[in-house]
Amino acid sequence: MADPNPRILPYGMAAIDEAAARIARGECVAVPTETVYGLAADARNATAVAGIYAAKGRPSFNPLIVHVPDLAAAERLAVFDADARALAARFWPGPLTLVLPLRADAGIAALVTAGLETIALRVPRHRAMQALLAASGAPLAAPSANTSNGLSPTRAEHVARSLGARVPLIIDDGACAAGVESTIVAGRTILRPGPIAAADLPFPVTRRAEGAAITAPGQLATHYAPVKPLRLEATKRRAGEWLIGYDSLIGDDTLSASGDLTEAAARLFDALHRADASDARGIAIAPIPHAGLGEAINDRLTRAAHR
Ligand code: TXA
Ligand code: MG
Repeated sequence: MADPNPRILPYGMAAIDEAAARIARGECVAVPTETVYGLAADARNATAVAGIYAAKGRPSFNPLIVHVPDLAAAERLAVFDADARALAARFWPGPLTLVLPLRADAGIAALVTAGLETIALRVPRHRAMQALLAASGAPLAAPSANTSNGLSPTRAEHVARSLGARVPLIIDDGACAAGVESTIVAGRTILRPGPIAAADLPFPVTRRAEGAAITAPGQLATHYAPVKPLRLEATKRRAGEWLIGYDSLIGDDTLSASGDLTEAAARLFDALHRADASDARGIAIAPIPHAGLGEAINDRLTRAAHR
């Protein structure tokens, strides 16, 4: 049961300073945006991002939206074409998220994009999120600040009720104006409907198949999967395999030699990419316990193995 009384600070300099310090230490903090309250962490810090999943109790790894202060910051992370620039000029800052090709030098943790070559970016309008972006100087990954399966939070009390002490700090700036998550656009397709309607866009768009990006984002066909065959629950390496170890089973790469699931989650996608890029014919991975973040890790591995 979550602590019913987590730390809540009203929006202001003290709250932003403390939140920025926590972000710098690799913690996550809850912060309002114009859509919903987000659970934010430094998108460059894989362990911090793993902490978001741990706090939400999310059973799978969906790619997360990264928040940046302005278009210039967004262009350092992703490649914009003319359409994307037109949308950014018209709707940023605001409740629009763009899925764009990830720049090779972006420095974003692979867990944020779930290992994809694209990234979802948003420039929020809300003063609290903008202030936190400025004070932390970090791109902030932030899904809605609720436990997995919970309702999206539009007030600080909703976050407190859902996450309790699993979030060290909640910045309270009242109710969110929009109350639903941002509209997500990839090319000329709407992946998730939101406050900005299709009719408001400057060009015609198609809608993604009903529910595909909303109810089962973890099942997006675009999820990264290794090219090589993946063998789960391996207890030793077979000929020609690249072994990804865990705990006492040390491999070519080891997710966490101390059996720390947060560390393992933080390293998972990098490890899969390295295994794929190796000379080995196949990939084997040690058993990962199902508790806590292990459920999300195993969900992802099961998808990656069954193709
Ligand atoms: O309004 C919002 O967007 C809120 C507030 C806090 O800003 N944030 C939010 O973030 O809803 P998040 O991380 O929960 O949204 C994740 C969704 C995924 O489920 C997926 O549908 C989509 O964004 N997404 C993220 N990266 C993607 C990618 N590379 N390709 C396709 N879809 C992506
Ligand atoms: Mg959500």
